[in-house]
Amino acid sequence: MKFIAYTVKGLEQIAAGEIENNIINSKIEELGDKFVVFNADIHDINLDKLKTIDDIGIVILQLKKPKKLIAQDLVEEVINLNLTETTAQIQNFRNLDNTFSITLSISSLRIKKLDLQNNLATLITKKYSWEYTPLNHSNFDIRLFLNRKIGFVSVKLARESLHKRKYKEYSSMGSLKPTVAAAMIFLLTDKREENVVDNFCGSGTILAEAFNLGLNIYGGDIELLNVLNTNKNLTNLSFKNSKNIKQLDATKTNWPSNYFDLVASNLPWDKQVGVESITNLYIDSLKEYQRILKPNASLCLLVHKPQILIKYAKKYFPNHKIQSTKISFTGQSPTIVLIKSF
Ligand SMILES: C[S@@+](CC[C@H](N)C(=O)[O-])C[C@H]1O[C@@H](n2cnc3c(N)ncnc32)[C@H](O)[C@@H]1O
Repeated sequence: MKFIAYTVKGLEQIAAGEIENNIINSKIEELGDKFVVFNADIHDINLDKLKTIDDIGIVILQLKKPKKLIAQDLVEEVINLNLTETTAQIQNFRNLDNTFSITLSISSLRIKKLDLQNNLATLITKKYSWEYTPLNHSNFDIRLFLNRKIGFVSVKLARESLHKRKYKEYSSMGSLKPTVAAAMIFLLTDKREENVVDNFCGSGTILAEAFNLGLNIYGGDIELLNVLNTNKNLTNLSFKNSKNIKQLDATKTNWPSNYFDLVASNLPWDKQVGVESITNLYIDSLKEYQRILKPNASLCLLVHKPQILIKYAKKYFPNHKIQSTKISFTGQSPTIVLIKSF
């Protein structure tokens, strides 16, 4: 059966790797901006294991030449499908009631989304006698994902989007999407039991994802409220060492020297969390990370000013190789900078 996994732009390769490693006999068919299409047996999919994927849907239609399509064509294509068959497939995963919703992810096409949504909702209601819920997408959610090059219609497997994590009860300003946090850990290591530190922990998303993957976690934040929120979120994962998460200034901590194997941090940026000088913060926190890290340690930093960070990363980590990946999600385009020892 054909599936589509939706992910953050820039993380498609990591998501494809996760699919291959976790879904037995899966075969990647196609990969593009924000999606990975793959074949697998529905019974082999364990959604809990997929950490970098936002959502998975069963592909019910692949649209040819999407740039030529107008809204009416799309409505006809979808209404001609047999959605009753798909409800039976989704019921392998969860119960459904007789409601449905529509999600439109349409870019670079001149299609009036509201008209399309309303027409489709009216015709599906008429054909199947299901009730349309425009705001609740946890039911039978039909997603139209298209741009000038590709077009897929899919139905969501899970009730909740996979990027929503149960542990994340508290969020601070600038809190990171958990799927991005998980991808940062995948980029850093595939080992367990290593010591990872995040001195800009916010509400602790990176630490929570690292803990879930079996790493020993340490960190803190300059704001006490964020430290408390991180500890509350981590308690939801049965984390016991709350003393490892403390209020600190990332530019001068009291962590021991040469102690940590890894750093994973999402550094503040002007619009999100005000700081006086980003350049000084980058310099001073890199210097401090250099002090508390073992010589062959690796760092994965999510930043909005990669050129500045890379300039000073070369200075403080001269024996490391640096690789950067621009990602984009919810209107932001930060860069993941990976600093690995040779
Ligand atoms: C982008 S947020 C981190 C968000 C976090 N990854 C999450 O998912 O919640 C950056 C954090 O750095 C903290 N911060 C700013 N300057 C700091 C400093 N000098 N030392 C430690 N933390 C600092 C802010 O309070 C903020 O929580």
